[in-house]
Amino acid sequence: MDMAAHGLFVPPVPTPPPAPLPMRAFLRAIRENALTIWPEAAYHDEFMVRQFFGRKNVLLNAPDAIHHVLVDNHANYRRSPASIRILRPITGNGLLLSMGDTWRLQRRTIAPALGPRVIPLLSRHIMASVHDAFNTLVQPELDLLAFMQNLALDIAGRSMFSLETKQYGAAMRRLLTEFGDHLARPYLFDLLLPPSIPTVRDWRRALFSKRWMHLIETMIQQRANTPNPGDKPRDLFDLLTSARDPETGAGFSPGELRDQVATLILAGHETTAVTLFWACTLLAQANDVQSWMAEELRGVDLTEEGVQAKLIRTRAVVNETLRLFPAAFTLVREAILPDRIGDLQLPRRAVVMIAPWVLHRHHAFWTDPGAFNPARFMPEAPPPPRFAFMPFGAGPRICVGAQFAMAEAVLVLASLVQRFRIASRETVMPVAIVTTQPDHAPLFQLTRRSVSPESRTRMSSPEPRTQADGGQS
Ligand code: HEM
Repeated sequence: MDMAAHGLFVPPVPTPPPAPLPMRAFLRAIRENALTIWPEAAYHDEFMVRQFFGRKNVLLNAPDAIHHVLVDNHANYRRSPASIRILRPITGNGLLLSMGDTWRLQRRTIAPALGPRVIPLLSRHIMASVHDAFNTLVQPELDLLAFMQNLALDIAGRSMFSLETKQYGAAMRRLLTEFGDHLARPYLFDLLLPPSIPTVRDWRRALFSKRWMHLIETMIQQRANTPNPGDKPRDLFDLLTSARDPETGAGFSPGELRDQVATLILAGHETTAVTLFWACTLLAQANDVQSWMAEELRGVDLTEEGVQAKLIRTRAVVNETLRLFPAAFTLVREAILPDRIGDLQLPRRAVVMIAPWVLHRHHAFWTDPGAFNPARFMPEAPPPPRFAFMPFGAGPRICVGAQFAMAEAVLVLASLVQRFRIASRETVMPVAIVTTQPDHAPLFQLTRRSVSPESRTRMSSPEPRTQADGGQS
């Protein structure tokens, strides 16, 4: 498809303020929609500096500066107090929040369980969830946000535990929604006080954590009661329980195992779910891109091992979605000791922001940055400049689940577009608190595409039923 010949869809986003926000408005924006904290200049300049209650707050866009913080001197930067407060009740001291030697040991142990060799095993869980979800899809109009959240949670649960914990899905979503609605927004003291000094909300977060961790322990207990009958690992739980530190030979203690399970379930489903949601939103408004993607999927057996490598257009759509709507819109770090980045002096406890949201829309790195144009990620296009595209972060703390996330996003989106034409009449705006969410859950209309006889016979799963069986391609 010659995409340049078409008018490109530019999804609506909040307009950046013309100048840096005054302190009260800045604080409100962090709590209500962090995408509005960066003024227009942030999308043109190499860095921005502001004072925040006596602390230096820096946004870095320059590649060398980002390299310094995330790679060269990464040990001098820890997660911010607000990130720790908001994530710890759900992830405990799992891989996302651990530090120093504990983190190194956890990372070495977990990374192989999510590495390329495990993707075929995880892909089978993904396709099993897809099969079930599409089989129960009967509505002509659908809340695709809820659909993707439930599907991604089911995939996370199955990949972790195989089938045994399916019945806990609703309870997990209820708890996570409760947390997201009431306890995930950072208030002033959450931002300012070190995590060792609890704020009022921290008490409520701790009470929540007890209930959440109890649910995770119940799931682990049930799964542990059904030992693996064979000698091959069935899921992440088998891989995590048998994982040993390559140097010391140590495995995880029960508490560590619980925190890792909670971390992987949380980190692994919310981000992928919103990415899939945003991909649907973009495709619903860009029919030409959708048809172009559907062409690639015609007759393809998505259950075939390694099929993702062939889905170049689908992958480009997922990457362009991650560029326009990065689920992790900003990485926030706090300097442990004073540091110097080029001419920039950073005192102890300075806050450093590296924001995929800003980098992905920066005028120095992208032409027409607001436009939805998957051609940017096709093999013939030049690769994006260094650190201009980093939906999974960078350096030693880069997302450990990136390959799993890409496999899931590509397979789920491909399964959806292969079966249905997606449309929506609603406009959505992104709101960033913990992840980049829509301001409301719009309805989508799904119309079944006609299936060629060849692909019908090759489909290993039955076709989903829908009342909106328009039979169009
Ligand atoms: C589209 C989906 C995803 C996105 C956009 C995403 C994004 C990110 C980003 C940006 C980071 C780095 C954070 C930082 O440096 O501050 C990260 C870390 C992490 N992600 Fe993901 N992620 C996704 C899916 C997943 C999945 C599927 C899993 C696990 C199954 C996962 C597990 C983790 C963990 C455990 C970390 C912490 C790694 C460490 O600190 O060593 N993520 N993710």
